[in-house]
Amino acid sequence: MLKNKTIIITGAAGFIGSHLTEILLKNSNFLILIDNFNEYYLGKEERLEAILSNYQSNKDYIVIREDLTKKLFINKIHHEIDYIFHFAAQAGVRYSINKAAEVTQNNIISTVNIFEYALKNDKIQKIAYASSSSVYGNPIYTPCDEDHPKNPISPYAVSKLCGELYADYYYREYSLPITSLRFYTVYGPRGRPDMSISKFFNFMLKDKEISIYGTGEQLRDFTYISDIINGLILACEKDASNGEAFNLGSSNPISVNDLIEKMYTITNKPKKVKYIDKQQGDVDITYSNINKARNLLKFSPKVDIEEGLMNQYQWQNKELSKH
Ligand SMILES: NC(=O)c1ccc[n+]([C@@H]2O[C@H](COP(=O)([O-])OP(=O)(O)OC[C@H]3O[C@@H](n4cnc5c(N)ncnc54)[C@H](O)[C@@H]3O)[C@@H](O)[C@H]2O)c1
Repeated sequence: MLKNKTIIITGAAGFIGSHLTEILLKNSNFLILIDNFNEYYLGKEERLEAILSNYQSNKDYIVIREDLTKKLFINKIHHEIDYIFHFAAQAGVRYSINKAAEVTQNNIISTVNIFEYALKNDKIQKIAYASSSSVYGNPIYTPCDEDHPKNPISPYAVSKLCGELYADYYYREYSLPITSLRFYTVYGPRGRPDMSISKFFNFMLKDKEISIYGTGEQLRDFTYISDIINGLILACEKDASNGEAFNLGSSNPISVNDLIEKMYTITNKPKKVKYIDKQQGDVDITYSNINKARNLLKFSPKVDIEEGLMNQYQWQNKELSKH
C-alpha cells in the first residue's frame, strides 16, 4: 500500500479518481488533486469536498482546478512527485460518437501534457494511465488477453488507445515508468450517472421504464470499484509493470438481461423494461482474461456482482432521498 508519498491524481473529482483519493488520504499520502470539474455530470465537486472535509488543505492535499489540455497546472506544483495516477478524460463511448474532435483534443492532449510534465521529475516511480477495455472493440476471441488485436469502434476508444501508444513511446524513448490499466466497466457507489447500472437503478427507484439497447444478451464484464483501486495500487508497487498494459476486470461477465433481473431482485420493484435499437459504439461482449495481472501484479478481484450491486443500490437510494 502506498504510504507517506506525494501523489498526483488527475480527474480526482471523478468516479474512480475520488475513490482513489479517499483511500490514499487514509494512508497519510500528500495528494495533488487536478480536475477541471467539467459539466459532463454534476455533483462531483460536492462529493470531493465531502471526502476532503476530514483532511487539511496544504498539509494533506491541494486541489488544482485546471484544464490539463492547457499547461497552467505545471506552475502550481512545487513538490517532488513519487506517483501519478492519470484518470482525467472525457469518458463515455456514446458521447464521443458526435463529439469526436472534442474527445480527441481533451483526452490525447491531456495525456501528452501529463507525460511531458512527468519527464521533468526525476523521482517519479510510476505513472498509472487509465485505459479501457474498449480498445479491443468487438472481440475476435474471448476472454481477451492483452495481446488481442486493438480494433476500437468509437472516438473515445481510439483516444484511450492513442494514450497507450504515447505511454509506450515515453517508456521506450525516455524510460518513463508508465503502466496502462485497461478497466472493464467499473461500477459502485459514486458510479458515473451515464453508465448502465447507475441509469437502471435510477429508473427503477423512480418506477420508470428501463430501455435496454439490443437484445440484452450482450455480455459485460462489470468490475467493482474497490477491485479496480486494488489493481491500480498493485500495479504501482511493481517495477515489472513499467511499459506494460494490464486488463483489470472481474473476468466473470454476465448478460444485461441477467443484470436487470438481479437489480429488480434488489430493488423489489415491478419490472418495466423495453428493448430498443443497439447503439453505435457498443460492443457485443466484454470479457477480460486477467492472467497477466494475476501473475505479475497478484491482482485478484474480490467483490461479486450481487454484493457490488447492493452497495451501489444503497448509495444511490440514499443520494436520491437527499433531493
Ligand atoms: N468508469 C469506467 O467504467 C471506466 C472504464 C474504462 C476506463 N475508464 C477511464 O477511467 C478514467 C476515469 O473514469 P471515470 O469513470 O472516473 O470518469 P469521470 O468522468 O467520473 O472522471 C473523469 C474526471 O476527469 C475530469 N477531466 C476531464 N477532462 C479533464 C481535463 N482536460 N482537465 C482536467 N480534468 C479533466 C472530469 O472533470 C472528471 O472529474 C477515465 O480516463 C476513463 O476513460 C473508466
